[in-house]
Amino acid sequence: MVIAAEPAALDAVERTTLPSHSAASLTRRSLLRSGAGALAAVAGAGALRPARAAPASVPFGAAIQFEMFDIDAAYRHAFRDECAIVLPMNELKFGLLRPSREQFLFEPADRLVDWALSNGQRSRGHTFVWWSTNPDWLEAITDEAEAERVLVDHIERTADHFRGRLESWDVVNEVMAHEPGGRDGPLRDSFWLQRLGPRHIPLAFGTAARADPSARLVINDYDLEFAGDRYDRRRALTLDLVRQLQDAGHRVDAVGIQGHLYSHLKIDREALARFGRDLKVLGVGLLATELDVIDFQVPGGPDEIDEAARVVVSDFLDGLFAGQRPEAVIAWGLTDRYSWVPDAMPRADGSPSRPLPLDRDYRPKPWFADVRQRLTQG
Ligand code: G3I
Repeated sequence: MVIAAEPAALDAVERTTLPSHSAASLTRRSLLRSGAGALAAVAGAGALRPARAAPASVPFGAAIQFEMFDIDAAYRHAFRDECAIVLPMNELKFGLLRPSREQFLFEPADRLVDWALSNGQRSRGHTFVWWSTNPDWLEAITDEAEAERVLVDHIERTADHFRGRLESWDVVNEVMAHEPGGRDGPLRDSFWLQRLGPRHIPLAFGTAARADPSARLVINDYDLEFAGDRYDRRRALTLDLVRQLQDAGHRVDAVGIQGHLYSHLKIDREALARFGRDLKVLGVGLLATELDVIDFQVPGGPDEIDEAARVVVSDFLDGLFAGQRPEAVIAWGLTDRYSWVPDAMPRADGSPSRPLPLDRDYRPKPWFADVRQRLTQG
């Protein structure tokens, strides 16, 4: 017996651009959104994939891009139906928000965030401080005090604008050097490090905590997943940065492990588990923030590529869960149709990369079913 429910309101974009939905599909979606109980009630109505995280499970999410949002309904529907969390991939970065010192272009991110919230989904912010995607006017600043004023003002006004809508922020992104302790220093030689020194990190965390006390504060970085000395150094440095922030009295709620997984490399499950346990001892959570699979070094066709992806994603999740239950697993996009990976690391044989949970035609990869099952187990 299907428990009738008020159809969820069409989202703003669908109201204006899409044919009206049948009440049944809206009922189905609103039931999925209301959690496991309602889902059980519609089981007789045919197999329904739990598109939303049931209460006990780990929420799955993905980063969405504004360029495709209006022009590709299938793209929008995939995010609506597959995700519990949807975040703007680029629209909250300094360079896209602030084309000039006077401008705060909030509208694209507002549309994405408010659309997600109107669907009953959650959202998060990426990112206040990064070495990349900074506008020329910012990097032209030479005075330390001015750079500090700009950083504080940016975080204060942006965090205030989104307060109550974003459950967490990547306060800083990729502050570690690519090879810490190698040819580089421990921290990446960014504009912020050059102008403010390492203090830009606690400055950002302190400002964010004051500007939006309700948001969880995250330090986000990459290459924390694999076996090898460089990855060990990056995990160790991340823990040091967290401890230093805490010792200075700053709140660090979680570490974001980006999870750009090279499927020719080996995940160090034990080191990842130890990393999660060490964070737990510090009272710090973890989440996967940018999951995708980089397959340019894996020979073969789609089946071989997807099998290598299944292994690396499975090992990654095993390592995460062995350390502590992740707060969320978020993919960096949803469909192979739109991904940074093939542009950045194209496959040597010229065949299409297969980085994301859905292929170019929005068909789920075999490994995505494994992810869903793992997250549903909680
Ligand atoms: O929005 C402008 C558009 O108006 C303009 O016409 C076009 C011209 O090139 O550029 C558009 O901005 C692009 C932006 O993506 C939005 O599409 C930037 O050029 C482009 O550099 C930017 O690339 C993003 C990249 O970060 C740099 O910000 C990728 O989509 C995004 O996937 C990638 O994501 C990063 C994470 O933020 C941090 N971790 C690594 C990850 C992959 O590099």
